[in-house]
Amino acid sequence: MKFFIDTANLEQIKEAQELGVLDGVTTNPSLMAKEGITGKDNILKHYVDICNIVDGDVSAEVVATDFDNMVKEGEELAELHEQIVVKVPMIKDGVKALKYFSDKGIRTNCTLVFSPGQALLAAKAGATYVSPFLGRLDDISTDGLNLISEIRLIYDNYGFETQILAASIRHTMHVIDCAKIGADVMTGPLSSIDGLLKHPLTDIGLAKFLEDYKKGNS
Ligand code: E4P
Repeated sequence: MKFFIDTANLEQIKEAQELGVLDGVTTNPSLMAKEGITGKDNILKHYVDICNIVDGDVSAEVVATDFDNMVKEGEELAELHEQIVVKVPMIKDGVKALKYFSDKGIRTNCTLVFSPGQALLAAKAGATYVSPFLGRLDDISTDGLNLISEIRLIYDNYGFETQILAASIRHTMHVIDCAKIGADVMTGPLSSIDGLLKHPLTDIGLAKFLEDYKKGNS
């Protein structure tokens, strides 16, 4: 399972990278705005800065919603750095753009996916990643994990190579549940990765080991 961090915050990306388990980064226009990154030049530079911190894939989202401009924007993003994956929304022109990018060998992440049918279309169009939004479904009392299971079943039935990128992860249990279901990737906040570390018996056990060591070696 690949671990992506879902942020445009460079300090958090560095912290996750230093842990040694980071496989990539996902961003979106809201996450960029949260970090105060505005204006085309600053946005493009920020993507390159992120690529220079991590070794893996970095999703950069187009803001155009028509085919011609999605293609123009996506090609410009892909030119920025070999690690860039062009993030495209699940709309009709987005599906056409996914197919166009796929034919050109440009890697894509189909975002804003909330149904198995949308995920099937993304795979048919050759998306590299599909991003079902787990947390946002849970937010409206709908089982986000079930969507990921359904996509896993469909993709396995036909051997689609599109990777399931469980997005909108909110906490550590989402990560564990996605791992059980077989999501290929998860993207979440740093806290969802750090949370995996924690267990009180580890802390108690370590304190006892160190106490016993000190008794015999002081
Ligand atoms: C990632 O690709 C998505 O944009 C992101 O996970 C959305 O997460 P949110 O629902 O917490 O905003």
